[in-house]
Amino acid sequence: MKPIFADAAAIEHAVKLLQQGRLVAFPTETVYGLGADAANPDAVRRIFKAKGRPADHPLIVHIASTDSLNDWAQSVPDSALKLAAQFWPGPLALILNKKPEVSSVVTGGQDTVGLRVPGHPVALSLLREFGGGIAAPSANRFCRISPTQAVHVEEELGNAVDLILDGGACQVGVESTIVDLSGTRPKLLRPGYITQFDIEAVLQTEMLVVSTQSGQTDSSEQRAPGMMAVHYAPITVALLCPTERLPEMIQTLNFQNKKVGILAYSLKPAENTLTRLIRMPKQADDYAQALYASLRDLDSLQLDIILVEQPPETAAWRAINDRIGKATSAC
Ligand code: TXA
Ligand code: MG
Repeated sequence: MKPIFADAAAIEHAVKLLQQGRLVAFPTETVYGLGADAANPDAVRRIFKAKGRPADHPLIVHIASTDSLNDWAQSVPDSALKLAAQFWPGPLALILNKKPEVSSVVTGGQDTVGLRVPGHPVALSLLREFGGGIAAPSANRFCRISPTQAVHVEEELGNAVDLILDGGACQVGVESTIVDLSGTRPKLLRPGYITQFDIEAVLQTEMLVVSTQSGQTDSSEQRAPGMMAVHYAPITVALLCPTERLPEMIQTLNFQNKKVGILAYSLKPAENTLTRLIRMPKQADDYAQALYASLRDLDSLQLDIILVEQPPETAAWRAINDRIGKATSAC
């Protein structure tokens, strides 16, 4: 399936397909989503099939505005309204207790539902024209890198999708921050562009943070497959490497005649016939925007190994470190 430019006619066509229970991939500000009518369980089942995703991994329902929260959530706490007012449309998903009529196919059997108003003009037009909620996980095959360009969706899903709307490269580049508001205390389930501190500043309370690296498996982690240790992975073996060890690692691997891809932001290791270097931006937001496309580029080169220079471990880099941690092993 070739992507088509997301003009008004393409969006109108997309709406018709959604109404028929078909699958439409569309751009959001974070990553491309694989969308289906969230109120049509058969359509939603097609998403799971196209992705190869287990049926118990819940999907995020995209809505056109905060007003639609009541169509999906049993009750909308003040905290949700505050966060929505501050960050929607934008890269934040909220987990709320679902209405009984919301299909458990969408929620993977959970009694909660993930909701988000995406901050991308194409996604918003599609949602407004369609009128209902659009269930949409990232438009990649299960456990693969999320697509940040329309052509990535084509590579990932081929003809398993009925239409790919091309709205250019995604601005944020990593998946939305997920905050669970279904319990007594707000809980950060997935770090993203909107940080823990941004959210705590609005809620005026500390959040529980589910560790994504420790391997602990409390029930909320099981509910969020984005938090499994292996996720977003390239096919090529990828290693996370501290800056100071990078030159030595490259040398050793080259000595073993290994073809090495390098994702570096601070060093400029010399390139040779056995190495392929991608210089990453030094600023966290720009780095995040480029991350998945860069990993995908290196992954397509039939290299023996990809070395990722360890980014700074400050708050601004948290979502990046979370995703890189899942795509790599430690060096
Ligand atoms: O940025 C994004 O959120 C992108 C774009 C397309 O909107 N979507 C996305 O979807 O990343 P997906 O399915 O790849 O990741 C959604 C995450 C999963 O980790 C899922 O478990 C979690 O959201 N999630 C959805 N509903 C949930 C629920 N009811 N309870 C707990 N986690 C939930
Ligand atoms: Mg995903």
